[in-house]
Amino acid sequence: MEDLAPRREDLDPIEIASRDEIEALQLERMKWSLAHAYENVPFYKAGFDAAGVHPDDLKSLADLARFPFTLKQDLRDNYPFGMFAVPREKVRRLHASSGTTGQPTVVGYTERDIRTWAAVVARSMRASGTRPGDVVHIAYGYGLFTGGLGAHYGAEALGCTVVPVSGGMTARQVKLIEDFGASTIMVTPSYMLSILDEYRTQGRDPQKSPLKVGIFGAEPWTNSMRVEIEQAFDMHAVDIYGLSEVIGPGVANECVETKDGLHIWEDHFYPEIIDPATGEVLPDGAFGELVFTSLTKEAFPIIRYRTRDLTRLLPGTARSMRRMEKITGRSDDMIILRGVNIFPTQIEEQLLKVAALAPHFQIELVREGRMDQMIVHVELAPGATDCEGACRELQQKIKRNIGVSTRVQPAAAGGVARSQGKAVRVIDNRPKE
Ligand code: DLL
Repeated sequence: MEDLAPRREDLDPIEIASRDEIEALQLERMKWSLAHAYENVPFYKAGFDAAGVHPDDLKSLADLARFPFTLKQDLRDNYPFGMFAVPREKVRRLHASSGTTGQPTVVGYTERDIRTWAAVVARSMRASGTRPGDVVHIAYGYGLFTGGLGAHYGAEALGCTVVPVSGGMTARQVKLIEDFGASTIMVTPSYMLSILDEYRTQGRDPQKSPLKVGIFGAEPWTNSMRVEIEQAFDMHAVDIYGLSEVIGPGVANECVETKDGLHIWEDHFYPEIIDPATGEVLPDGAFGELVFTSLTKEAFPIIRYRTRDLTRLLPGTARSMRRMEKITGRSDDMIILRGVNIFPTQIEEQLLKVAALAPHFQIELVREGRMDQMIVHVELAPGATDCEGACRELQQKIKRNIGVSTRVQPAAAGGVARSQGKAVRVIDNRPKE
């Protein structure tokens, strides 16, 4: 694979500034952000007042711990525009979550917010190895989801030729990647696997594709999956993280030269790790729930937002800004099976060790008698024949490495549901209590 590390002179100076400089900027911006939220959003004023804190109490970054958390439910309670800090006419764009579990959560952007967002996505893409002039194929969904348009504005800001394909119609995805000579693709890792299948269906060699960089995110994926995709396409696979409430994609990104976790763009988003049970702030290096405070957002400032994503903070490497470890899962996605905590990424890791199985999977939870049972639905890899042996091998690996007994059930080729965006990894068919 080509060395695509950006030149130092092409980075934003703050990416490689000293920690003192970064922290001074953060403190100044945090004071502004807290005051902006307090003065313009009744929810924050009421919350700060109830906790007995005022934005003027913030003298150091550590003082942030005195301010209350914001939860997804708070956004729902203030649906649709109650969390906005600017008059609606100043809002240039709305995005929203799908709202499958109730009220959708709505976020808004001023003109400057959209520029900030484009800048952090452009920075993420540059860190991934994309350069001005590259053809960028965007297969994240366009629409209310932040993936498509977030990537789009970032790619334009970087000076790329953007192909706004959105998700779906996989045969056409492959044709356009090839015909337009895309060197970067931005898509969920699970959908990239569908694109890989389609290459093979069309009898095309993925190794010969024009792709050099894939910027994958919006769902958890493992380093094993990175190796799988990098080898199949002979390309770099880099992790991008973000969430609508904080801005969308571009909150943090891996650097192609190190691929050792995601550098958080700390000049705009201030991270904390807390103990999810007590809310206590944990030191860097400790594992817990990621919490974000926006430092520059105008329309939708967000203070101490509990993401439910689990990770830890690590010192910077390729940049001065701190890293977050690749996300293993969300607290909401954790399966507790007969007392053992399991994340779908752990199953993915074991599955990718079994050469005779394809990388697609779905977990089904059922109740048999009084016992919960986990069924892992898988497919044979193209060309593999020993289905029983492959399933047994996976079952043993899960038992040995994760410590639970599961049933591994083979489906026909294409039988495991494919995602066109974020993969649905767990289907819970247990009776509702
Ligand atoms: O998924 C934004 C995004 C779009 C990120 C495209 C990256 C690429 P939401 O739909 O609000 O926003 O979902 C946010 O997705 O809290 C995580 O649980 C998960 N997530 C996002 N990126 C990653 C990642 C977009 N790289 C939620 N690794 C977050 C693991 C991720 N999980």
